[in-house]
Amino acid sequence: MKAPTPFSLCCVLLLSLPLVIVFTITNPTVIPIFTSTRNNSNKPPTKILVPIRNNKKNYDTKHKPAISTPPPPLPEDDESLFRLAARVNPKPWPTGAPKKLAFMFLTTRSLPFAPLWEIFFNQTNPKTKKLFNIYIHADPSYHYDPPFSGIFAGRVIHSKPTQRFTPTLISAARRLLAHALLDDPSNAMFTLLSDSCVPLHSFNFTYNTLIRSKKSFIEILSNEPGAYGRYVSRGEDIMLPEVPFQEFRTGSQFFVLTRRHAKLITKDKRLWSKFKLPCVEWDTCYPEENYFPTLVGMLDRRGCVPATLTHVNWTDRSDGHPRTYEASEVEPGLIFSLRRHRPRYGDDGSGSGNITESIISKRHDPFLFARKFSPESLQSLLRIAKEVIFRD
Ligand SMILES: *[C@@H]1O[C@H](CO)[C@@H](O)[C@H](O)[C@H]1NC(C)=O
Ligand SMILES: *[C@@H]1O[C@H](CO)[C@@H](O)[C@H](O)[C@H]1NC(C)=O
Ligand SMILES: *[C@@H]1O[C@H](CO)[C@@H](O)[C@H](O)[C@H]1NC(C)=O
Ligand SMILES: *[C@@H]1O[C@H](CO)[C@@H](O)[C@H](O)[C@H]1NC(C)=O
Ligand SMILES: *[C@@H]1O[C@H](CO)[C@@H](O)[C@H](O)[C@H]1NC(C)=O
Repeated sequence: MKAPTPFSLCCVLLLSLPLVIVFTITNPTVIPIFTSTRNNSNKPPTKILVPIRNNKKNYDTKHKPAISTPPPPLPEDDESLFRLAARVNPKPWPTGAPKKLAFMFLTTRSLPFAPLWEIFFNQTNPKTKKLFNIYIHADPSYHYDPPFSGIFAGRVIHSKPTQRFTPTLISAARRLLAHALLDDPSNAMFTLLSDSCVPLHSFNFTYNTLIRSKKSFIEILSNEPGAYGRYVSRGEDIMLPEVPFQEFRTGSQFFVLTRRHAKLITKDKRLWSKFKLPCVEWDTCYPEENYFPTLVGMLDRRGCVPATLTHVNWTDRSDGHPRTYEASEVEPGLIFSLRRHRPRYGDDGSGSGNITESIISKRHDPFLFARKFSPESLQSLLRIAKEVIFRD
C-alpha cells in the first residue's frame, strides 16, 4: 500500500475501531490510537483520529458511567511528541461540546495542596460532563511520598529531569502542553501551575473567567531591568538572528494559553534552537521566563492579555524567590487582599508604548491563583476553603 486512498484509509480506521473499543474496555492503559494508523498515512492523522476517539467517548458516556482513562501512551522523545502535537486541531473540538480547562502541574514533590485542589475540583458536579483535565510533570529523579492519589492518580505524563537555570523547565512545560493537546480535543485553555500554587476562587468562577476569554493570559514585559543580562546569558549575539534584543521579553512562566497558542508553542523550532542553548552566565539565566513571552509576543501579540493571573509577591525580595506565605498569615484578609490586587500588564503591542491610553488600562482581570504558600499552611487554607476561597 503505497499511497493510501481516502477509501483505504477509511477501511483501516473502521477495522481498527472495534479494536480500539475492546482495548479501552479491557485495559484502559493500552489504547493504540496514535500508533495504529500513523504509519499508513502521509497526511497528518490527528484530524481523522481525534473525532473518532471522541465519538467513542460519547457512545461510552451514553450507556455507562464514563471511565476515567489515563493519558494514552504518546511518544517519549520530545521531538516526536511535539511533532504530533503541532498537528492538532487548534480549535476545541467537537464544536458546541463543553470546552475544558487543562490544569498542568509542574512539580518535583508530592503536591502539598492536593486536598485543597480536591475540593476545588469536587465543586464541579460529577454527574454533568467533566469540564477539566489534570496533567502532572513530575521530575523522575525525585521521590513522591505520598504518591499522587485521588483526583491526581494516574495523571503524571512521561516526565524528565528539570533544573533551575536550564532550558529543562521550558521542555517540561512544552511536554505538558503537548500531552494536554493530544489527550483531549476539548481542552480549550491550558493553565500552568506549580506545586506551591493555590486557587483563589471557586472552580465555577475560574472556569467562567477562562473559557470566556479568546486570548491567552501571559505576562509579556519589555525593557525590564536586567533584560539585557538575561538576553546575553547564553553568550553575546548568540540569539541572533532569530531573536533580536528588541523582541526579547520577560514574564512569569505561569500562564494560561489558548489552544491555538499551546499548539504554536509545541510547533516552534526556530526560537527553541536558541533558547535550548546552555547558559554561560547562570545567575541571569531563567530561560522559562523569557522563552514563552518572547515566542508568543513575536507570533501573536494581539492574541494575548499581557498579564499573569497567578499572584506572586516580590516585595522586598532579591534572592530570586518570591515571598512565601506561612500558616500563621493565612486568614480571610489575605485571600481578599490577593484578590483585590490588579495584575501588572505589559504594553498592548500597539506600538504606542502608552499603557494609560491603551485598552489594557481598562482591564481588571481577576487573579485566579496565588503562590507561594508553605506546605504547613495547608490546614489554615482548608479551614477557610468553603467560607472564603471557594465562595465568590
Ligand atoms: C513507519 O514504518 C517504517 C517502515 O515500516 C518504519 O521504519 C518507521 O519507523 C515507522 N514509523 C513510525 C512512526 O511508526
Ligand atoms: C469529592 O467527591 C467524591 C464523590 O462525590 C467524594 O467521594 C470525595 O470524598 C470528595 N472529596 C473531597 C475532598 O471533598
Ligand atoms: C456552577 O455554575 C453552574 C452554571 O453556571 C451552576 O449550575 C452550578 O450550580 C454552579 N455550581 C456551584 C457550586 O456554584
Ligand atoms: C507582600 O509582601 C510585603 C512584604 O513582605 C507585605 O508587606 C505585603 O503585605 C504583601 N502583599 C500581600 C498582598 O500580601
Ligand atoms: C498617554 O496617554 C495619556 C492619556 O491620553 C496622556 O495624558 C499622556 O500624556 C500620554 N503619555 C505619553 C508618554 O504619551
